[in-house]
Amino acid sequence: MVIQPKIVKNVCLTAHPSGCAAGVMQQIRWVQAQPKVPMPKRVLVIGASHGYGLASRIAATFSGDANTIGVSYEREPSKKRTATPGWYNNRVFDQEARKAGYTSISIEGDAFSRETKEKTAAAVQEHLGAVDLVIYSLASPVRVDPDTGETYLSVIKPLKEPYTSLTVDVMTDAVSTVTIDPASEHEARSTVKVMGGEDWYLWIESLLKHGVLASGAKTVAFSYVGPELTYPIYRNGTIGMAKEDLERKAALINERVGSLTGEAYVSVNKALVTRASAVIPVVPLYISLLYRVMKDKGLHEGCIEQIYRLYADRLYTPGTSVPVDSEGRIRIDDYEMREDVQETVKQLWDKAAECSLSEIGDMEGYRTEYLQLHGFAQPGIDYGRESDPTAVDY
Ligand code: NAI
Repeated sequence: MVIQPKIVKNVCLTAHPSGCAAGVMQQIRWVQAQPKVPMPKRVLVIGASHGYGLASRIAATFSGDANTIGVSYEREPSKKRTATPGWYNNRVFDQEARKAGYTSISIEGDAFSRETKEKTAAAVQEHLGAVDLVIYSLASPVRVDPDTGETYLSVIKPLKEPYTSLTVDVMTDAVSTVTIDPASEHEARSTVKVMGGEDWYLWIESLLKHGVLASGAKTVAFSYVGPELTYPIYRNGTIGMAKEDLERKAALINERVGSLTGEAYVSVNKALVTRASAVIPVVPLYISLLYRVMKDKGLHEGCIEQIYRLYADRLYTPGTSVPVDSEGRIRIDDYEMREDVQETVKQLWDKAAECSLSEIGDMEGYRTEYLQLHGFAQPGIDYGRESDPTAVDY
């Protein structure tokens, strides 16, 4: 079939196998050009097929020489329908890592389920013995509670009051005003159930129970803070509530892994174009302005640059302990949050309603990155030719 992007409400429903392969290869090549990071060699990434999780896996292997197990939730392809991009990414990563002599096991299943946790612990035991680093990088709209079978949905809404702001259609650049009603108490609690720290805690419990968390192991989950501009929809909204829960769970996990001298951290990362962030109202507009400012200042980073810096300059800098903020969190959003960056973003934001976004923002950059996440807009690929969606050929 001829595979083209099919985008509805900032969600891309198709993925191109060769283009996804090109995206994985670009990240591998970037990492290979950096100095090696002296990090441990057995890494588990939960949410490994895309965005920050995929970058965590690529950097661990190709800059840290680590063997990895990656867990993700993917839709398989058929002759008539493409897979999710992560399905292609997993296959390319496994192939490239194994070719380079590393162990690479991809487990596709629901990370929230007991079954996937058991299967993963067994795979760790069999292939790695134990793990020294566990990255928790899930972004999901839904979770089935493993104990009760109840389904929880996460929503991205403000709390208490409606929120009106500008937003942008990623494909057309059309800026419009959007009003989002506040979440009900049930919606807010459900979002915490899905995107909070409970499942991270259960993962660590499961690894401990099976004796596959190595002594001195570190575990890291990702959070976001961002500027006041996005507080009503992010930090002070349902998703922020979930992130606060995640940050509290880091303290609990720290106590739990203390006997192994293990450490749990939340890393606050930069806002980036990913499949998850594209569906948050307001955020794509903010990101397009942020990209423009950070590119102009030579500070722009994608997932792979962020994660490389997390490993090299925060988690595994020889002779130093992990630097954290006053709330115990690692900050790799430091460039995004620089005063001069935020000041300029704010000035542009104030102009966004009247000015064309192509003049003041980096919508082109946003769009290209978004398409590339799904294997489109990659140079050198003929998107008009027939491709087999069930195979990754590159
Ligand atoms: P993403 O959408 O690119 O990747 C999410 C990953 O989770 C994929 O590998 C997907 O397969 C996996 N996943 C989803 N549901 C699953 C399930 N039930 N079982 C197994 N795997 C499942 O997401 P992104 O943006 O990389 O987000 C990862 C984390 O980073 C999230 O916690 C997010 O809040 C955080 N973060 C994201 C930022 C951004 O701007 N994108 C900024 C700061 C933090």
